[in-house]
Amino acid sequence: MNQPVTGAQPARLHDRYPDLGRGPLPVAPYIDPAYWELEKAHVFKKTWLHVGRVEEIPTAGDYFVKDLAACDASIIVVRTRSGAVKAFHNVCSHRLNKVVYEPCGKVRKFFCKFHGWAYDLDGRLTGVPDEAAFEADFDKETHGLTPVSCDVWQGFVFINMDPAPALSLADFMAPMFGGLEGYPFHMFTACYGWSTVVNCNWKMVLDAFQETYHVGYVHGRSIADALEKTDTGSPHPIDGLCGDFHRRLSIAGNPKSVYGNPKAATTGASAAAEALAGSNRPIATAALRLAQGGTKLSFDEVRLPDGLNWTRHPNWAFDINCVFPEFYLSTRPNYFQAYNFRPISHDKTLFEARVYYPEMKTAGGRFYQEYMKVALRDVLLEDLSTLEHTQAAAATGAKDHMVLQDFEIMVRHGAVVVDRLIRAGLEADRARA
Ligand code: FES
Ligand SMILES: [Fe+2]
Repeated sequence: MNQPVTGAQPARLHDRYPDLGRGPLPVAPYIDPAYWELEKAHVFKKTWLHVGRVEEIPTAGDYFVKDLAACDASIIVVRTRSGAVKAFHNVCSHRLNKVVYEPCGKVRKFFCKFHGWAYDLDGRLTGVPDEAAFEADFDKETHGLTPVSCDVWQGFVFINMDPAPALSLADFMAPMFGGLEGYPFHMFTACYGWSTVVNCNWKMVLDAFQETYHVGYVHGRSIADALEKTDTGSPHPIDGLCGDFHRRLSIAGNPKSVYGNPKAATTGASAAAEALAGSNRPIATAALRLAQGGTKLSFDEVRLPDGLNWTRHPNWAFDINCVFPEFYLSTRPNYFQAYNFRPISHDKTLFEARVYYPEMKTAGGRFYQEYMKVALRDVLLEDLSTLEHTQAAAATGAKDHMVLQDFEIMVRHGAVVVDRLIRAGLEADRARA
């Protein structure tokens, strides 16, 4: 189920994945607070979750904090003196204050702001003011920060609230994304991003990024022309894969736009062309011209892994990799996008979007990047424009199902995997009772 399928694509993706079903999709999981509680218990507290990149904490003492509502947790991720990346609950062992209030920083030790307990970078309790006033058997060794499972895949830091995860991070990622290993994620060091809270269920927000059906309409005045359209006028993905957890889509560009020109996408001098997101506005072309040769990275020297452009389609533009449950990683020949749709409640989601480019070496290259920021911001605003209305309409209860077309199979796959894990979790709970 996880392996790329070679040969002819079936007439319908649903024919390849009969286990996913093909009927209407229930609305309740998108609007029901009780279902959200099940997702927290059986999905988010049991699954690897992407929290950041190693470049954010390059040296000993660098840390960042992630508040994860879906896990009822605040997590410190820190670079230790040995160079390891570790994660701890952001909870003091004394009277439970948050050890760190700031979202990121650099420390020699963590000092709790309440009574001054000190923890080293490995989470050990090393200092307790007025320690003699505690009981005689008080043992600092047993009061360190509570560790959280943490591992790194291709520079992406993941945590797992399960102290003994059922799958290692490597085994979790490899079946669908092993072919992406070796992609030069670490070379794209010019990062910018946005975050916002959307009053919408996390699956509803993610779903808007894992189908191209909406592109011709929602993005009709921006990027629609950048994608290859079928003769129905709808941009179909080249192919889609559904695994045990993850899913991915391969997307074709319109060869008549700069975006869809594969030659432009594979040479260093015009690397930026592929990234233009297809805008055909004159300023886009001007920005592109300014960016020519502006990148510090020579893409001609970068060997891209075979898992990129897995369909080998001549007009391939980019891949959408949906890392279960809510990490969207879009890989391109010369930049990548990393989005998280972090649930806050059944109808609230923290959308964190980051885009990673190579450093530019010319003023023209920088201008191009600034242009790209604005262009992508506008496209994301288009994506977000419908979602709060969709959530409000879904919550009216007027419909108890939604209808999906074949190329919305990733929406179905996401819902089916969540449901499978909840059922398995409930079954395991019953067996233990
Ligand atoms: S709560 Fe942290 S030192 Fe008291
Ligand atoms: Fe979109």
